[in-house]
Parts: sequence; C-alpha cells; structure tokens
Amino acid sequence: MTKAKHSRRTFLAMSAGLAGLGLGLPARAQTRAPDPDVLVSRGGAIEVDLEARFGPTRLAGRSARLFSYGGRVPGPRIEVRPGDEVTLRFSNALPEPTNLHFHGLHVPPTGNADNIFLEIPAGERLTYRFKIPENHPAGTFWYHPHLHGLVAKQVFLGMAGLFVVRGELDRIPEVAAAREQFAVLKDFEVAGGRVPPPSPMEFVRGREGSLVTVNGEVEPEWTVERDGLLRLRLLNASTARFYRLKLEDHPLYLIATDGGALEEPYELDELLLAPGERAEVLVRGEREPGRYTLWALPYNRGNGGMGMGGGMMGGAGGDTRPRPLAHLVYAGRRKTPLPLPERTGRVPELGAPVRRRRFVLGHSMQPGRGMVFTINGQVFNPGRIDTPVRLGTVEEWEIANMGVLDHPFHLHTNPFQIVSRGGRRERLRAWKDTVLVPVRQSVRFRVAFEDFPGNAVYHCHILEHEDLGMMGIVRFEEGA
Ligand code: C2O
Ligand code: CU
Ligand code: CU
Repeated sequence: MTKAKHSRRTFLAMSAGLAGLGLGLPARAQTRAPDPDVLVSRGGAIEVDLEARFGPTRLAGRSARLFSYGGRVPGPRIEVRPGDEVTLRFSNALPEPTNLHFHGLHVPPTGNADNIFLEIPAGERLTYRFKIPENHPAGTFWYHPHLHGLVAKQVFLGMAGLFVVRGELDRIPEVAAAREQFAVLKDFEVAGGRVPPPSPMEFVRGREGSLVTVNGEVEPEWTVERDGLLRLRLLNASTARFYRLKLEDHPLYLIATDGGALEEPYELDELLLAPGERAEVLVRGEREPGRYTLWALPYNRGNGGMGMGGGMMGGAGGDTRPRPLAHLVYAGRRKTPLPLPERTGRVPELGAPVRRRRFVLGHSMQPGRGMVFTINGQVFNPGRIDTPVRLGTVEEWEIANMGVLDHPFHLHTNPFQIVSRGGRRERLRAWKDTVLVPVRQSVRFRVAFEDFPGNAVYHCHILEHEDLGMMGIVRFEEGA
C-alpha cells in the first residue's frame, strides 16, 4: 500500500475508533489517544489494505529484516462488529507466495474468505471478502499466513496481527470500564539485523527464539489504577514457544478464551498459553501501589525423544528460568472500586454427539524427508479429504498424543468445547479453537458444525509441525 493511502486509512480508523469509544464507555476513556495501528470498522463495513513485506522493520527498539504486514510487527489490529462486511485488499510484496487465515473466525472457509487453499504468488494481489455473522461472538481472533510448508517460516519472521470482534462482552459495564491492554506474545531470533535460518533439529522441535517480545517490544510497562481493573487480551503468536504466565502477587480472572466470553470470571494463579491460543483476563488493582512483573515461567513441552532413540528431536529446550515479559505499574486511584463483573456471557452446552472420532498424533521418519509429524499415521495431503462431517450435527473428537512432544491441536471454522482432559472431566465450559494435548495424554471435545460448507483444516499449532505434515482436511457437508 502507498504511504498516502496508509495515512488516510489510519485517519479514518482513528475517527472511527473515537466514535466507537463513545458507545457506552466512560468519558475518561474518550480522551485516551487512539492507537494508530488499529483499523476499526464503521457503518457496518471495513476496508483494509494489507501488504505482506520483507525488509527492515522496527523490533524491540532496533531494526531487523523481517516479514511483516505493512512493515509493522505485529501487524495492524483489525476491529469489527457482528454483521460487518470485511473487504481486505491484500498484496504480496514478499519474495515468495503466501496467503491469509483468519484464526478463530466463524466465516466461510471457501472462496475469497477464510480459504487457506488459496495461494498468492510473489508480487500478486487478492481481495478477501466476507461477512462477520450477525450472531458472531465477541472475541480476540487473529490473522496469519497459512500456506502449507511456509507457515512456520513466515510467522516466525513476523507475520501476525489481531482481529478483534467487538460485541456483548465489551458492553458489560465493568469490562467496558476496565483499562484494555492487548498483548501479542511472540519470540524472534535476530543476529546482525536478520533472522538466521533454524537448524533442522530446531525446526523439528518447533523453533523458539531468544528475543521474546510483547507487541514487538521488550518488557513494556502497563498501568493499572488502584481499585481499577486491567483487561489483558493475550495472544500467543509464537510458532512454538509456550507461555506459562504468572503475574506477581495478582491472581488472573479469566473472562474469555479463544472463542469468546466465559459465563463468569474464573480465578487462576497461572495461565498457560500454547501457540495459537488466546485468553482475556482481568487484573484487579488491589495491591500496594508499586511495580509488579508478568513472568513467563519455565515449561517443558516434551523431552523430544530423550527416552527413545537418544534425543532425535534435541534436548528439552525452552527456558529453564522465569523470564520477565512485562510490568504492571500502579498509577492513580479510582474513587469507587471497580468490582469484577458477575456474569460475562453465556456458553450453552452442546448437545449429544451423533458421532465420535479419534485422532492420534504421532511422528515417524520418512525416507528422503526426515522427520514427519502425523495424524492417524498420515502426513498432510491436500488432495485427500480426511474427515467428512455433516453440517448441523455435533461430534465428539478425541485427540490422543502418542508422541514425545506436546501438540496444541487447532480446528478451523467451528469452535469447540472441551469435555475432558487426561480422562478428567473439564470443569470450565468455554469456547476453544486450539487445545493443548500434552505428551501421552488425550483430550476430548465436542463441536457443532454450523453454517458453512466446504473444506477446512485441523492441525498442530506448533507451526513447524503443521509444515512437517501434522494437518488434515475436514469437509463440512450439507445434510441430506
Ligand atoms: Cu492459526 Cu490453521 O491456524
Ligand atoms: Cu486457524
Ligand atoms: Cu505439534
């Protein structure tokens, strides 16, 4: 996109943002300077120009040659409302093909909508068009490339942005009055201003970079009012790194997961976010005013086969000590304390499944290809329909991890509800689209297939594993 076009778009977004804030938010919020990296829909529509680029990009106060959307990491945040028409004029200025996926959105997986089978060659353009359904839940979604074989590379190099649907959750008075902070968690590896290629071992395990950023910055500071609320909207946009989050001296009150609001806040001491997952938490400004650190605690996502064949996927990897991610600083004080909301939404229970399926996650060595990752013993084949399902039905899927590394399993288009993990009934009813399936465990979830016919995919959201074959095709078929 040209510079002139970009600044006009930003100006429109800013005015739309201010208009949007006028609806139901306290006067205080309206004086906040709008973020220039936010594109907000207006009058039931949004038009976005988005260019995939390769070149010097600002990251953590320096410049690095990255892949990006519009020269920024993360890419611009797109904000829509249910019922909006989305037009996204995409151009590919990368030296290689790419495409777009709208992770978590319930929109058609076909045509020029959320169709990951499209391929946009270097130098070409494509206009994406879709409508956000009128009954689409509010939530924290995101966009990233999804061209099989190049996904991990392109995301690792910087391509990811938030796609937010504003709705009912945003209108709950305590949530609307909270200070809102987005946090895109993403690691990088930069040496001499560029991203060195991963070693084959690193790639197989899932690449983790040593530069861990939040919204492209290192250890940002956020403020919370004494007796106020902070609404933290988190996305794990890393290809492979997990974030086991703990905020010093403060519990986290989970109010939304991947697919939107919970019924009520759910208190957590720690929050584990695997790649692809999102969470919204409220933090109460209830401590002595001061500075508190948001930590990423060590997490072991599998020993990579140390027990079988002497570590063919490398050692345990990952951080061995806590890493500071951000800091929360108390500033100001509310006259009347802002309580937690009592209710945050409705999560209706899904009906009895008409069918059960089992998916086994594994890996194997393939002659000439090296390590591959498999679902039910097979690597991804774009010409094969693995799972035909009926629209209008509920199914129960069991995902069993027989491998040596954790795999976060993700399904496109239709969100699901976890029924059990490791044989234990899930207490929390929540909408998810990505669920961690730890080594030697299995997870069961129910999913209702609704509205959109066509082919979509499910895969491991350690994107290196997806590129190495751990993906299958689900076909949503119209009922007879
Ligand atoms: Cu976020 Cu199919 O991916
Ligand atoms: Cu997705
Ligand atoms: Cu995996």
